[in-house]
Amino acid sequence: TNLILLGPPGAGKGTQAKRLVDQRGMVQLSTGDMLREAMASGSELGRRVKDVMARGDLVSDDIVIGLIGEKLEAGGEGGFIFDGFPRTLAQADALAAALAAAGQGLDAVIEMRVDDAALAERITGRYTCGNCGAVYHDKTRPTKVEGVCDECGSTDLRRRPDDTEEALRNRLMEYYKKTSTLIGYYYAKGQLSVVDGLAPIEEVGAAIDAVLDVD
Ligand code: AP5
Ligand code: ZN
Repeated sequence: TNLILLGPPGAGKGTQAKRLVDQRGMVQLSTGDMLREAMASGSELGRRVKDVMARGDLVSDDIVIGLIGEKLEAGGEGGFIFDGFPRTLAQADALAAALAAAGQGLDAVIEMRVDDAALAERITGRYTCGNCGAVYHDKTRPTKVEGVCDECGSTDLRRRPDDTEEALRNRLMEYYKKTSTLIGYYYAKGQLSVVDGLAPIEEVGAAIDAVLDVD
């Protein structure tokens, strides 16, 4: 199964992708995570995207299409979850071409719908484990022991530099200007399902499972 999770910043794409990896053995392909890894490793690519990401602007299509291409070639048992990709029409076309070239297709596109006020709450309260990537929230999903990751015990809990209100405004603008057109694009192909992203995490997960199990 190959699945796209489509939705604005903070919609819960990463949270649900991690659950699908654990429960279904799918492979998560998050272009945001790949770019952050490039920054952490101090690579040339990381240096190039640092300021763009901190502002909340989109990185160029060439860069992210290149990143995804490498991962698709490596193969993914259990199917891929595209998390935060595609974000533009050019990226969507490139993905369709890459999947076709690999003899694969797209099984579902799930739009996670959340209103802007809730997104701001989620983004400003978010922190993640620097060791295993688990995602937490100050109010809705705190670690059981303060300062310690539930999953791996690490104390390396971090906040993202682009999780400020100012950068979030930019990220939302980019989403509505460039990414939200993909809703119509996949709807027209008959591939779009919509899930209420405002529901509690478990309910959103159940709604996603229902879509996957029909396909
Ligand atoms: P990226 O890393 O993709 O960030 P994003 O799209 O802004 O998404 P987020 O990771 O912020 O949110 P999410 O939907 O994963 O939410 P999460 O599950 O964490 O992109 C970052 C940047 O990289 C971009 O701005 C751009 O510069 C660049 N980039 C990346 N991909 C690109 C591309 N393809 N093209 C060009 N540029 C690209 O949840 C958020 C919080 O809410 C958490 O605290 C969580 O615990 C909580 N939460 C989750 N679900 C629920 C729920 N149901 N109820 C209550 N709380 C919940
Ligand atoms: Zn951890």
